Amino acid sequence: MERATAGDTGMPIRVSVPPRTLLVLCGPAGSGKSTFAALRFGTTIIVSSDHCRELICDDASNQQVNRDTFDLFYYIISKRLYLGRFTVADSTALYPDARRRLREIARRYGFLACLLIFDTSQETCLQRNELRERKVEARVMPYHAGLLQQTLRDAPNEGWDQIHVLGEQDMDTIIEIQI
Ligand code: CTP
Ligand code: MG
Repeated sequence: MERATAGDTGMPIRVSVPPRTLLVLCGPAGSGKSTFAALRFGTTIIVSSDHCRELICDDASNQQVNRDTFDLFYYIISKRLYLGRFTVADSTALYPDARRRLREIARRYGFLACLLIFDTSQETCLQRNELRERKVEARVMPYHAGLLQQTLRDAPNEGWDQIHVLGEQDMDTIIEIQI
């Protein structure tokens, strides 16, 4: 597991992956996953669980439709990987089962499974959540912070091909797709 050290050198972190990669974003609500992805990848490359939720019920924060949301999320990712397309999975991925599911899809299609963990403090997530339009309930934040710590402990033993932990100062990280 590579923990970001760019803060020490002043140089951005470089993540280098082959085109057949499933890049799995992981982190609490408000940790900056979707913002990070939107600055680097086209909209069709990013498969977002919130977007899937919105597609089926017109409400990106409706937690009553989780099962159908994630059916669609995994289905779209599977179809993209079947067609050999580089893909970014944008969800919190804070539960071991969710990460296992994504790793299994990557394996099934011979893709590299790369986990990008957004190690953003609870304070920062809370502040950002307050400032944005789609707010997550505040009580979710300490819960997600706990899941993040658990993920940081568990991920190295889960079977990822690459794991990168990005601190708040690493939002300039470069994702390089090898040719
Ligand atoms: N934001 C910010 N500075 C960053 C990253 C994000 O100010 N470096 C802001 C965004 O503009 C947004 C909010 O913080 O208003 C949450 O960022 P977002 O990328 O949406 O967080 P996610 O991790 O995608 O949160 P969620 O899991 O709820 O989708
Ligand atoms: Mg998001």
